[in-house]
Amino acid sequence: MDETNRLIITIDGPAGSGKSTLSKNVAQALGWRYLDTGAIYRAVAVAAELMDVSEPEQVVALAKTLDIKIETCDNLSRVWLGDREVTSLIRSPSISQFSSVVSSYPQVREALMWLQRQQGANGRLVTEGRDMGSVVFPMAGLKFFLTADPQIRAERRRLQLLREGRAEDLSEVLRLIIERDKADSTREIAPLSIPKGAVVIDSTAMSLFEVETIMLGEARKVFGV
Ligand code: DC
Repeated sequence: MDETNRLIITIDGPAGSGKSTLSKNVAQALGWRYLDTGAIYRAVAVAAELMDVSEPEQVVALAKTLDIKIETCDNLSRVWLGDREVTSLIRSPSISQFSSVVSSYPQVREALMWLQRQQGANGRLVTEGRDMGSVVFPMAGLKFFLTADPQIRAERRRLQLLREGRAEDLSEVLRLIIERDKADSTREIAPLSIPKGAVVIDSTAMSLFEVETIMLGEARKVFGV
């Protein structure tokens, strides 16, 4: 990778750790682009659901043919499968769980690698996911691993779902978060893990603004921005 690829900030962490809000805010503050890679795995899960496909080999074959487009407008990641916009479909709780399942298939990850790397080709990118700093952009100039207590993450996720018009029970949100964390961090390929050289931030007792201040401070030190 060349010098441009070092102008990348990766933010990895478990569900509900605040990655999305922070990645968007940091990208906006720096005038860089933002890439939500979870949205890409979610798009595969939606496509599989729409095609009524659930066997691993079928999901892999489907993932290889998909035309996924992702764009960030007004702080929202908009996603298309071909001409069909699936932006709101990808956010349902059932797709959250199914995207975790499809993301554990090595050939699905392989099929989506190029799309993700292509987004980082010109640098000036803030990207969030599970393996951004460890696998997809190992040469990123600045890497964060963001975490928080599961109870706090569940409450943040519940509030986020509420803002999107979905009322969910806190204990159910917590149960699903714990289940998804376990699957995402114990899978064989590219599991959620702390990337080498990452700045680890536990945001349990911090506001998102405090975390953002730390992140921008690190970006200033590393990139002089
Ligand atoms: O970040 P998210 O909750 O939107 O991600 C949905 C799922 O996609 C997550 O449970 C695991 C998977 N994922 C992944 O395996 N690798 C990434 N870089 C991003 C997401």
